[in-house]
Amino acid sequence: MATLLHIDSSVFPADASSSRAVADAFRSAWQEQHPEGTVIHRDLAAKPVPHITAHAHTAGFSDPATHSPEQAAAFAERVKLIEELERADAVLIGAPMYNLTIPSTLKAWLDNVVLFGRTAGDAQSVKGTPITVVASRGGAYGPGTPRAGYEYVQNYLSAVLADFLGADLDFIVPELTMAPADPGMADLVPLFEASRERALAEASAKAKQLAQRLAA
Ligand SMILES: Cc1cc2nc3c(=O)[nH]c(=O)nc-3n(C[C@H](O)[C@H](O)[C@H](O)COP(=O)(O)O)c2cc1C
Repeated sequence: MATLLHIDSSVFPADASSSRAVADAFRSAWQEQHPEGTVIHRDLAAKPVPHITAHAHTAGFSDPATHSPEQAAAFAERVKLIEELERADAVLIGAPMYNLTIPSTLKAWLDNVVLFGRTAGDAQSVKGTPITVVASRGGAYGPGTPRAGYEYVQNYLSAVLADFLGADLDFIVPELTMAPADPGMADLVPLFEASRERALAEASAKAKQLAQRLAA
């Protein structure tokens, strides 16, 4: 049965987080299709993974037989995260925009799992794996908006997940999430509400389509 790796990185709890709410809708629809499947949930805000260290990094480029005890220990932690990713038939990532880019906890996870010669580069051990990213953001950064040039979540994750890892990448984008709380964005509340509804509907539809595609 299929395995979904579900990663959250919002610092907010489920009832206050758009990315968690939309990811939950995706996950619920996925589980309806795969009641006997496995969902591995990794909450990077609750339980961050270690930042990459010199030992963990250099171990990735050297023969394991030559690793120092420090390199071996650090690399073993990295390999656990890589194997978890490699075992997944599909991946779901909640990636809120923090200061124009992804949360540092998600960056730390990426620094662990991107390993040239295994997951990245010529090898690409997760090539073709469907990865759905819920890219929530307080403002709007789509093409044609005044802040389009400041969009470093989708642009960055496309480079790393699609280009480095070769994943089959898709985005769901609930935006303008700060509109209800920011009086200066009051006019944008209807657009926020429409974006949220669209994101929730897309999450259910995409999860079902993906589950059916993987079962075929
Ligand atoms: C530390 C921090 C930095 C943020 N920086 C931005 C930003 O640069 N641009 C933006 O549009 N929203 C920004 N926001 C707002 C979040 O993107 C917004 O609250 C979004 O809904 C977060 O996703 P979540 O609801 O899943 O937590 C920031 C929020 C936090 C907590």
